[in-house]
Amino acid sequence: MIVMSEQMASLQRRIVEQGRVLPGGVLRVDAFLNQRVDMRLMRDIGEAFARRFSGIGAGCVLTVESSGIAPAGMAALAMGLPLVVCKKQASRVSRDGRLSTLVRSFTRDAEYEMSVAREFLPDGTRALFIDDFLAMGEAALGAARLAEQAGAALAGIGIVIEKSFQPGRGRLEALRIPIMSLARIKEMRPGERDASKAIEFVSED
Ligand code: G4P
Repeated sequence: MIVMSEQMASLQRRIVEQGRVLPGGVLRVDAFLNQRVDMRLMRDIGEAFARRFSGIGAGCVLTVESSGIAPAGMAALAMGLPLVVCKKQASRVSRDGRLSTLVRSFTRDAEYEMSVAREFLPDGTRALFIDDFLAMGEAALGAARLAEQAGAALAGIGIVIEKSFQPGRGRLEALRIPIMSLARIKEMRPGERDASKAIEFVSED
């Protein structure tokens, strides 16, 4: 049996206490992750990722703006690695040397261009990708494509909240790299008044 760390138990508590389940399989976590950001929780999250991924030989932590930056930044700090942030909008400053790929966001029903400057992903870099949510897996797959274009590769994926009832996890497993999600949601019940029943987590044993 895997015993959940105290930090991750506290993440689950925050999700239950402050998360809001919306119709369409969307969880609002603006109160501690997406808008008001609890940096103590982010520090614990960064340390949990650092413990899990310390042995993968990562040369940087890679994320995509904007909500991935806080957890990825804390993981980078804990691991002593640079943080590289993929942009979602074409750079107005320079397009030279930028790698880009088109990413479809199902949750937001929109497409965006994810890009990064080639110089920040040197050939042969092993990158640890970290993001706040895993839904369809599109952001992580986009990051994997950018890394590949650069001659680098993703060496691990760390997710704060995985919606396990959506296909992202299965799609990312095809990459055959370690994936760790700190909270895995099995089911969400919008309209359920009892907060303890509105969100069911995947049991880890
Ligand atoms: P995917 O990367 O797993 O394919 O996710 P998808 O395209 O479906 O999600 C697109 C955006 O919606 C991402 O943010 C993702 O973090 C966010 N998202 C997905 N599911 C949820 C959810 O249940 N709750 C919340 N709060 N966000 C969710 P983004 O567009 O990249 O925006 P941001 O990082 O600037 O906030």
